[in-house]
Amino acid sequence: MNFQDLKLVNTRAMLAKALTDGYAVPGYNFNNLEQLQAILAACYETESPVILQVSAGARKYVGTKILMKMVHGALEEIGDPTLQVALHLDHGADFDICKDCIDMGFSSVMIDASDKPFDENVEISRRVAEYAKKYDVSVEAELGALAGIEDDKVAAATHYTNPADVKKFVDLAGVDSLAVSIGTSHGVYKMKNPDGKLRFDILEEITAVLPLFPLVLHGASSVPQNLVDEINKYGGALKDAHGIPEKQLIKARKMNICKINVDSDARLAFTVGVRKTLVEKPEAFDPRIYLGAAREEMKNLFVEKNKTVMGCANHRT
Ligand code: G3H
Ligand code: 13P
Ligand code: ZN
Repeated sequence: MNFQDLKLVNTRAMLAKALTDGYAVPGYNFNNLEQLQAILAACYETESPVILQVSAGARKYVGTKILMKMVHGALEEIGDPTLQVALHLDHGADFDICKDCIDMGFSSVMIDASDKPFDENVEISRRVAEYAKKYDVSVEAELGALAGIEDDKVAAATHYTNPADVKKFVDLAGVDSLAVSIGTSHGVYKMKNPDGKLRFDILEEITAVLPLFPLVLHGASSVPQNLVDEINKYGGALKDAHGIPEKQLIKARKMNICKINVDSDARLAFTVGVRKTLVEKPEAFDPRIYLGAAREEMKNLFVEKNKTVMGCANHRT
């Protein structure tokens, strides 16, 4: 299956435009129909480009064939050919999963060999980039490693990206974008730097050697306190959850971070919708009631995020 037949685009043009105009394209993860609908509705309403992200866990949960039909169906339902939507594999662990997604019709893949030594990371990323090129699929790689949870693996420590390595890496690997590690982490319990700030000094050094290259920020949920409070109010138990302050994300996207990945915030908003509805409407047992509320909660969050944190509203190309 070819991604163009599914009315998808790769991420090259959308990231190039975001880079020059100083906004970020959202990389939003989804795991079910309601989350997919929420993302597309928010991006349609705000006239934003979007990168729909699928992790290995999402593939396992939904089934890749169903995922593909869901995306295809959702885009047909909207029926607007000007909507800029990429379908992207998030944290592809090896060549085979990337190849599988490219063959299935994904328009973009991430090869994440950031846990491997530099030369091995280059070699795996280069192999994926070469295969992807044949199909015009864009490729993201990662250098440095984030702390936090990813596909059931927990990385305890952050390994910041070494600015001295980035030019050599992208030249040798031939990838289209690069995820960098500057202090963010996955999940809702972010690792804090001693001074509580992202390492903008590292980001500055990276952009100095790669001035026109698209950079990606993973682990960029801001973990809004109002959502955490709502979850706890309606029976949840999220203690000391915290994320990346929005101001820092906005600063980052003005420094060549042109793709910002968010998954945890969507999970929080969705959980608020489910918990609140079930508590407030104890008689409800129709999933459309509580999943519909969750979808609305997530959509509203992303409408706001596109306008403020991403700055991508009204940037449909
Ligand atoms: O980067 C991690 C994403 O939040 C995906 O999470 O592996 O639980 O689907 P997941
Ligand atoms: P968060 O856990 O901060 O939402 O990060 C998601 C992510 O990086 C997906 O690749
Ligand atoms: Zn990530």
